[in-house]
Amino acid sequence: MAKKSIRSSFDFYQNNTNIKWIVLAVSVVISISSIYYTNILVNQLKVREKQQVELYAKALQYILSETANDNIIFVSEEIIQKNISIPIIWVTKDGTYEYRNIKIEESWSDRHKKEVLEKELAEMKRLYDPIPMIYESEDGAVENLGNIYYKNSFLLSQLIAYPYIQLSVIAIFGFIAYLAFNYSRVAEQNRVWVGLAKETAHQLGTPLSSLMAWIEVLREDETLNKKGIVEELEKDIRKLTVVTERFSSIGSAPALKKENVVALIHNVINYLRPRVSSKIKIEVFTLSENITAEVHAPLFEWVIENVCKNAVDAIGTSGSIAIKILRGSDSKVFIDISDTGKGIPRSKLTQVFRPGFTTKKRGWGLGLTLAKRIIETYHDGRIFVKSSEENQGTTFRIALNTSP
Ligand SMILES: Nc1ncnc2c1ncn2[C@@H]1O[C@H](COP(=O)(O)OP(=O)(O)O)[C@@H](O)[C@H]1O
Ligand SMILES: [Mg+2]
Repeated sequence: MAKKSIRSSFDFYQNNTNIKWIVLAVSVVISISSIYYTNILVNQLKVREKQQVELYAKALQYILSETANDNIIFVSEEIIQKNISIPIIWVTKDGTYEYRNIKIEESWSDRHKKEVLEKELAEMKRLYDPIPMIYESEDGAVENLGNIYYKNSFLLSQLIAYPYIQLSVIAIFGFIAYLAFNYSRVAEQNRVWVGLAKETAHQLGTPLSSLMAWIEVLREDETLNKKGIVEELEKDIRKLTVVTERFSSIGSAPALKKENVVALIHNVINYLRPRVSSKIKIEVFTLSENITAEVHAPLFEWVIENVCKNAVDAIGTSGSIAIKILRGSDSKVFIDISDTGKGIPRSKLTQVFRPGFTTKKRGWGLGLTLAKRIIETYHDGRIFVKSSEENQGTTFRIALNTSP
C-alpha cells in the first residue's frame, strides 16, 4: 500500500514532460496572439498616418494656391505646424529638399545634412509610395511640384517593435527563473540524497559494531566454530560493513584514489557469482590484469554491482554477461558491460537513468540513478547505454579518468 502511493508520486517524472509541452504550447499561443493584436493596431495607425500625410500635402497645396488670408494662417498653424510626429521630405521638382521631423542640427555642414536626408529618403522610398504634389491654378493649368515622402512616426516604429521587446524580456526572465528553480531543485535533491545516505550509515553503524563484538564472543565457542557458523556470520558482517561504507561515502564527497579496476571488478563478480543462477555466465575480458583509474573503491563496486544485477534481471533464466575493460586514448578507461538479455526499447533509452523508472514488479528504479550520480558527480566520468537491441542484449559503458 505504502509502496503504491510512493510509486504514483514517481509517475510525476513521466508527466513532467507533458507539463513542459503544455507550458511551451501556451507560451507560443500567447506570443502569437500578442504579436497578432499589436499588428492590428499597427495597421490601423499606419492608415491614420497616411491620412495625416495626405492632409499635410493638401494643406501645402492649398497654401501655395492661395494668397495670404486668415484661412492660410489656420491651415499653416493647425495642420502644417502641428505635424510634429511624422517624418516627411518634400522633394521639389527642381530637386531641393524640404523636410519636417527629421533630426538635423543647424550646426551640421551642408554636406552632412544632405547625406542624412538622402539616407532618410532612401528609407522612405522603400517604405511607402510618395504623395504627388499637384498644383492646379485657377485657370486650370496643372503644375507638378514634386513628391512628398514619409515614413513611420517614432510612436508607430516603437509599436511595431514593442511585442518583440516585451516577449524577449519575458523569455529572458522566464529562462532565469527556470534556472533558479532548477538550481534549487537540484540542491534540494542533493540534500535528500546526502541526508538519507548519512542517516542510513549512521543507523547501521551501531548494531554493526555490537555484532562485531559478539562475533569475538562466538569465536571462543569450539562447537560453533567447527560448524563454520562463525565464518558465515563474519561474511555477512563484512558485507554489512561494505554497505555501511557505501552509504557513508555517498553522504560525503569521497576522495578518489588510483585503484586497479580489474581487481575491483573481480571482487564484485566473486561476490555475485554464487548468488546468481549457474546458467548465467559472467566473464571478464581485459588485455592487462592491471588497469588503474581514479576511483572510490566502495562506490565504484556499488555501480558495477547495480549494472550487473540489472543485466542478470534482463537475462532471466540463461545467458551471459561480458565485462570488457579497456584503456582508451586521452587518459580514459572504458568498462563495457554487455548482456544477452531482453534489451531496452529505443523509446525508453533516455529514461532508464531517471529516478523511479523501472519495468520490474519489485523494482525501485533507483539503481541506475545512483550509478549515474556516482560516476558523473563523484568520478567526473560518464555512464551511458552504448547499444541495445531488443531481445538481443544491452551494453552499458562506463568511462573513468586515469588521472585526477
Ligand atoms: N541491462 C539491461 N537490460 C534491459 N533493461 C535494463 C537493463 N538495465 C536497466 N534496464 C531497465 O532500466 C530500468 C531501471 O533500472 P534501475 O534504475 O536499476 O532500476 P530497477 O532495477 O529497480 O528497475 C529497469 O527496470 C529496466 O527496465
Ligand atoms: Mg537495478
